[in-house]
Amino acid sequence: MGQELASGMTTSREVRLAAVPEGLPTPEHLSVVEGPLPVPGPGEVLVRNRFFQVFPALRTLFGGGVEGTPFPPLHPGDTLFGGAIGEVVEGPLPRGALISHWLGWREFAVVPVEQCVVLDDTLPDPVAHLSQGLTAFAALTRAVEIKPGDTVFVSGGAGAVGSLAAQYAKRLGAGRVIGSTGSAWKADRMRSEFGYDAVVLRGDMQLDEGIDVFVDNVGGDQLTAAITAANDGARFVLVGALSSQLSPDHPGTTAFTEVDLLQLIAKRITMRGLSPLDYAGAQGEWAERFGAWLRSGEVTFPHTRIAGIENAPRALHELLSGQHVGAVIVEF
Ligand SMILES: NC(=O)c1ccc[n+]([C@@H]2O[C@H](COP(=O)([O-])OP(=O)(O)OC[C@H]3O[C@@H](n4cnc5c(N)ncnc54)[C@H](OP(=O)(O)O)[C@@H]3O)[C@@H](O)[C@H]2O)c1
Repeated sequence: MGQELASGMTTSREVRLAAVPEGLPTPEHLSVVEGPLPVPGPGEVLVRNRFFQVFPALRTLFGGGVEGTPFPPLHPGDTLFGGAIGEVVEGPLPRGALISHWLGWREFAVVPVEQCVVLDDTLPDPVAHLSQGLTAFAALTRAVEIKPGDTVFVSGGAGAVGSLAAQYAKRLGAGRVIGSTGSAWKADRMRSEFGYDAVVLRGDMQLDEGIDVFVDNVGGDQLTAAITAANDGARFVLVGALSSQLSPDHPGTTAFTEVDLLQLIAKRITMRGLSPLDYAGAQGEWAERFGAWLRSGEVTFPHTRIAGIENAPRALHELLSGQHVGAVIVEF
């Protein structure tokens, strides 16, 4: 049984996985389906979503997911999910309050109240809560503790994580910041807006200077190049493995890279995989600092907004094929 809102709306659209792609997903692998407005039960909140995140790990979830990570795999018929911001319509939170939660990719969501975070104005634009800023901040301040003067290399440097990691690194005292991208047209913006001192292109991986910190979103040849260029005692934080996750040749659920262990040993390199969830105190500190940097204009939130849930399948395809800089957000 559906319900009717004061606005007269009785239906809600959502994006589902239609078929498991062979190779990378295209819009045809997703379907936008209309159904009755969901009805909240006790302890649940009906939320009208306004924004949701489009993110590359969906490709890994379509391929079967990775055991031990917080996100379950997605099967044909499943509704996609991911970070979202919406307004409370009904339930045990103030009507109209803006909340963030994890049930994106649908116009209306029924969310358990304990999974709702009521947003305040710490960030000047609530959409910045859908950035990957916390990931970038936890990587630089917790997983590796950046030191003044460090030379930092960020692979996937124009993406949602990378575009903020570079800007944060500079604010946190890095000396030089180098970034990589597979899209030559992104390099100018990486230098002028995100503060990269140098940009290298994927496929032409050679780093001409020693690095102290590596924020790795890509793996593969970026990781091997970083090991070759690492200074003694370099600290690597492994955030993602886009080279495997976005490879058309396999499902993106494993990411093997051959590395020279003798170089790791000789240079005393440390590597740490990142889960921002490990750092409970990072969230508040990140929001305070990001909010202040955004207000002062020292940092930007690079993102593209794509209007209309019906365009969400295209938005994912464009993200995976490198057509955007920073985060990709669907708004409606
Ligand atoms: N550990 C965590 O908690 C955590 C949290 C968030 C994200 N992540 C992971 O961090 C990584 C970065 O996330 P993100 O949101 O910032 O992604 P993203 O960089 O915004 O992803 C899209 C970009 O991937 C690049 N790309 C496309 N095909 C590629 C390929 N074959 N090899 C390498 N890069 C390719 C393209 O950038 P160019 O055009 O510049 O090449 C494209 O614009 C992902 O692996 C994500 O799953 C991890």
